[in-house]
Amino acid sequence: MDGSSLLSGELIGDEEKKENIIRPRLLEDFQGQEKLKENLSIYIQAARERGEPLDHVFLSGPPGLGKTTLAGIMANELGVESRVTSAPALDKPKDLAGLLTTISPRTVFFIDEIHRLKPAIEEMLYIAMEDYELDWIIGQGPSARTIRIPVPPFTLVGATTKPGRVSSPLYTRFGITVRLEFYSPEELQSIIERSADLMEIRIKKEASAQLSRCSRGTPRVANRILRRMRDFAQVQGDGTVTTSIVKSSLERLEIDKYGLEKLDREILNTIITKYSGGPVGAETLAISVGEGIDSLEDFYEPYLIQQGFIKRTNRGRVATALAYNHLGLDRSDNENQGLLF
Ligand SMILES: Nc1ncnc2c1ncn2[C@@H]1O[C@H](COP(=O)(O)OP(=O)(O)OP(=O)(O)O)[C@@H](O)[C@H]1O
Ligand SMILES: [Mg+2]
Repeated sequence: MDGSSLLSGELIGDEEKKENIIRPRLLEDFQGQEKLKENLSIYIQAARERGEPLDHVFLSGPPGLGKTTLAGIMANELGVESRVTSAPALDKPKDLAGLLTTISPRTVFFIDEIHRLKPAIEEMLYIAMEDYELDWIIGQGPSARTIRIPVPPFTLVGATTKPGRVSSPLYTRFGITVRLEFYSPEELQSIIERSADLMEIRIKKEASAQLSRCSRGTPRVANRILRRMRDFAQVQGDGTVTTSIVKSSLERLEIDKYGLEKLDREILNTIITKYSGGPVGAETLAISVGEGIDSLEDFYEPYLIQQGFIKRTNRGRVATALAYNHLGLDRSDNENQGLLF
């Protein structure tokens, strides 16, 4: 993903450390997503009372919506150890076995990017998830045999931005599935205000409301923009983030009132002017705007689709009337072309 972009989904440099201050640790600090929180807290309480591990949890949704955060919260609320890894780090069966044989009972075992598991690891995981055992091959050649090693009961939390890429045998082994959706402006505003509090940033109510509307429905983006606002407020104002600071700073950052950044507008502009409004395939589009296919599909598109700027059809992406309007382009130009050729 393009690390230089203010809005990009991934963490840049030491931002990880700064995130630790504002990352919610308990369900009550996790803003928004009320229904999901309510359900989770019931499952957690039930598992705690029974002294059993929580059922395996599948978390999906665009980057920055709180998947990693939720995994940590679950471990805290359950009062158990948490172990964190990602599918690309599990290269050999011994990597997985090494982790699972050393956990304490009821550990929350978090695997990020679970759609990227290698087949051999995935198969090992099936048995571990169902029977809390590992198939382990000892010896070589004709004398090789498989033994089963017990592992402590655990909760697997698998997270992905690409749920469609997860095989169905794996997916069906999760008892709890959580799909994180974009946050409403009201939810984002309370996230911004909570973060401002923790980071000791003074921000006016109207300013946080304004920011919440251009944070792409994404807590990570909201927090990142908030930090930039603090810089502008400190250097150009009296330290307080006001609506006028927000307005001038967003202009400077080229973020518009919908929260679209330059690259979003470039994507729309490319579909409209280069491909007559679409349909255009995701790969072609990614190349045309000079962005990786993953970042286009995971980060940029979901928000553009949710906001109604593009539509996904089986022949590719199509720009909507809203996209033409937003860029101030005339739709009839492309429609006439369609008739001529
Ligand atoms: N519901 C929430 N309430 C408050 N803050 C939140 C919430 N969800 C996420 N955040 C904040 O947003 C940041 C990003 O969330 P997180 O790292 O959990 O996203 P993610 O879904 O794991 O993203 P990725 O797919 O890139 O791994 C967190 O550090 C946290 O501070
Ligand atoms: Mg994460």
